[in-house]
Amino acid sequence: MQIEDSLILIVDDNSTNIDLLVSSLKGDYRLGIAKNGFKAIDYALKYLPDLILLDVMMPEMNGYEVCKRLKADSSTRNIPVIFITALTETGHKTRGFEVGGVDYITKPFNSDEVKARVKTHIFLKKMRETLKNQNIILEERVKEKTAEIQKMLSATIQTMAVMVDVRDPYTAGHQRRVAKLACAIAEKLSLSKDVIHTIQIAGVLHDIGKIRIPTSIINRPGKLLDVEFEIIKIHPQVGYDILKNIPSPWPFAKAVLQHHEKIDGSGYPAGLKDNEIMMEAKILTVADVAEATSSYRPYRPAFDIDYSLEELLKNRDKLFYAKAVDACIELFRKDNFEFE
Ligand SMILES: [Fe+2]
Ligand SMILES: [Fe+2]
Repeated sequence: MQIEDSLILIVDDNSTNIDLLVSSLKGDYRLGIAKNGFKAIDYALKYLPDLILLDVMMPEMNGYEVCKRLKADSSTRNIPVIFITALTETGHKTRGFEVGGVDYITKPFNSDEVKARVKTHIFLKKMRETLKNQNIILEERVKEKTAEIQKMLSATIQTMAVMVDVRDPYTAGHQRRVAKLACAIAEKLSLSKDVIHTIQIAGVLHDIGKIRIPTSIINRPGKLLDVEFEIIKIHPQVGYDILKNIPSPWPFAKAVLQHHEKIDGSGYPAGLKDNEIMMEAKILTVADVAEATSSYRPYRPAFDIDYSLEELLKNRDKLFYAKAVDACIELFRKDNFEFE
């Protein structure tokens, strides 16, 4: 840590005092001089000294006022101020600390004391700056690492989504489209970034549990039998079991688990009701229904999006979260939302 080339500002209206301080400190530091408070502030703002030696008793603006103004300005706030007081002015010492001074030196000066106090405070200031810089570097590193981890997480998520798509061509892209619509709904409802991010991840993975269901059931043309539907119903729990151990600040596994729950408690797997279902899942459900009923399935043709929206409206506040239904309808009918 280099403290020798530090810049010290000496502020005093008395030339004799200035000379004494200069002779104590020259050779070790660069020195600046100001003979009144206004000049001291100008100098400090312009050159940002490493330390200020500040006389208390000065005409026009005393040292306390100078110090207060320096502490009020963000660019000069962290410059340590050592007050210069006469030995008789005992009350001045505490006042100096109150306005933000770090130390005081009493007149008449003792050269060794001046040097020692200045050196200590310059050292402390440099130390604080080094720590601050190291903190900034560390924070940057943490940010970089977090971004890397998030990238890895989203690559993993994409790969998992593709696995489902590859196995089940009829729902290929379904998850991506649901994620897109669900995020648009969440944005329309002004939900937080975290909620939207959870919806994004849960959206592209919400049917991942279908990899446990035989393709003969998933891809079979014709309407599903009751027994087949019972098998289909395990997919939210399977999805949750696959995802629950991925460490993440976003509760996407839980949103996947709840994406077939309904407001009136008629959904599965747990039959949760309105406020027992997390917001992310309620929105996913609406997007899932809008997307699924409007695209082609092996057991039925694709419907028009208007058909899906009517389905949602019919069951608004009964099966589906009303605000999400309204936002979804507005997206298609006013904002010209498109899946691809
Ligand atoms: Fe599903
Ligand atoms: Fe789905």
